[in-house]
Amino acid sequence: MAFEEKIKELLDLRVKAKLGGGEKRIESQHSKGKLTARERIDLLLDEGSFEEFDMFVTHRCTNFGMEKKEFLSDGVVTGYGTIDGRLVYVFSQDFTVFGGSLSESFAKKICKVMDQAMKVGAPVIGLNDSGGARIQEGVNSLAGYAEIFERNILASGVIPQISAIFGPCAGGAVYSPALTDFIMMDKENSYMFVTGPKVVKTVTGETVTEANLGGANVHSTKSGVAHFVVENEQEGLQKIRKLISYLPSNNLEEAPVVDCNDPIDRLEDSLNSIIPENPNQPYNVKDVITAVVDNGEFFEVHENFAKNVVVGFAHMNGMSVGIVANQPNFMAGVLDINGSRKGARFVRFCDAFNIPIITFVDVPGFLPGTGQEYGGIILHGAKMLFAYGEATVPKVTVTLRKSYGGAHDVMSSKQLRGDINYAWPTAQIAVMGASGAAAILYGSELKKMEDEEAKAKFIAEKEQEYNDKFANPYNAAKYGYIDDVIEPRNTRFRVIRALQALATKKDSNPMKKHDNIPL
Ligand code: HXC
Repeated sequence: MAFEEKIKELLDLRVKAKLGGGEKRIESQHSKGKLTARERIDLLLDEGSFEEFDMFVTHRCTNFGMEKKEFLSDGVVTGYGTIDGRLVYVFSQDFTVFGGSLSESFAKKICKVMDQAMKVGAPVIGLNDSGGARIQEGVNSLAGYAEIFERNILASGVIPQISAIFGPCAGGAVYSPALTDFIMMDKENSYMFVTGPKVVKTVTGETVTEANLGGANVHSTKSGVAHFVVENEQEGLQKIRKLISYLPSNNLEEAPVVDCNDPIDRLEDSLNSIIPENPNQPYNVKDVITAVVDNGEFFEVHENFAKNVVVGFAHMNGMSVGIVANQPNFMAGVLDINGSRKGARFVRFCDAFNIPIITFVDVPGFLPGTGQEYGGIILHGAKMLFAYGEATVPKVTVTLRKSYGGAHDVMSSKQLRGDINYAWPTAQIAVMGASGAAAILYGSELKKMEDEEAKAKFIAEKEQEYNDKFANPYNAAKYGYIDDVIEPRNTRFRVIRALQALATKKDSNPMKKHDNIPL
């Protein structure tokens, strides 16, 4: 073959590969409001930065006449490129080829990018849109999944792993995204479940739609499986780019520092009056967060799940930080099972990837009741405790109002190696709130009192006495549990100074194979 012909052959093969399952199936993909695997990569990466691997890979299956059906790339597009100039590896499942189902060759392609990403220390982003195991390949497909799972596990805590679900993700296939750090789902076309509606009907008799079983709404509000829910794929791909901007490329690096034009000593007068007079009145802790961070930009994670705990990323003087806060606006900011799971996972992510943690505390305690106890709040609450206690990244805590009981200890307290613990003058750091304390301390006296008016007066006096003694930050500050009581409007400056002072922090945990966090 002449040289020109060889070049033409290559170019023709490329054109063929880029067509995936063919024009008809691409049309069908578009008609569902979905992008193709390659269109997604184009929107995700910096323009022209994508370098593709394994375009000429095909499957090796001969069952069910499969030898007659071959598509170049075999249903997944893989390679590397950049996001804002930073290297990332990517795989994008192509639903137009055998419904994006996973074959042995398909799995090998994904494993190749994961292995390279680990060697060079770069994030892996997986765009999922697949009918699951390629049925014609049988056990080879299952083995392929397991190869990917093992790599997800070994990469965990070493390189960031991000999954977007832009179509079906069912059966054991859900476990690769589940092993990654963040899952995003789009509202229109994505669903995730271990067993689909038909199997559910057969096994439990329950009738349920795909969306109600495992749609984006379910997983972003009820199960907590999805960290982000987006209106459409375009929004999702932009959001992944933004998420990457807060993260280091691997666990040995720091997150990139961005330019900051927001003055570090900006006083935020609104914070001096944000805490209501009435301790039972809520306020929105996100107003505190946005007032303190650079340019009011807060990138919230798990926005619709366990809203009593708020977590997300922001910059402080250009440094990437993880923020954890109790939300008085939702269930009074109490810690419950889901809130603890959410907070613990976020804290552990930040710690694994050298991202300092800022904690804003306003917590009345753990949620009481049989529902919580039967569900194991003891173990789930312990996750949060464990996560904070083992974290060695810089930890700055600001107690805004309530910090009661066990929840006080949990929320990045001094004794869990909180580095710099501030409190606002409105802080109340105590074993419990005044009404509960008065009822317990003076229960026998109250039992003897018959006159309701006298009883109410007595309780009010005792509550006042308790509040005078404990409903302030100074009792904790007296023991050095609080490093300083700060003026709320100056919080931004004080926290940035704290982070600057902690920039060279070194701390470690005892040598061990791994810990035994209460899972
Ligand atoms: C091979 C598959 C496939 C699969 C879809 N296709 N899923 N081929 N293996 N798993 C093919 C179809 O034959 C069809 O080919 C094309 O992909 C598009 O599929 P449609 O059914 O036409 O599309 P749609 O109506 O949109 O439905 C999508 C779907 C459905 C809901 C995903 O295809 C489906 O239910 N697929 C099977 C899902 C499943 O049960 N997977 C195995 C799960 S068990 P043509 O040539 O007609 O275009 C599992 C175990 C993993 O995954 C274990 C890991 C440990």
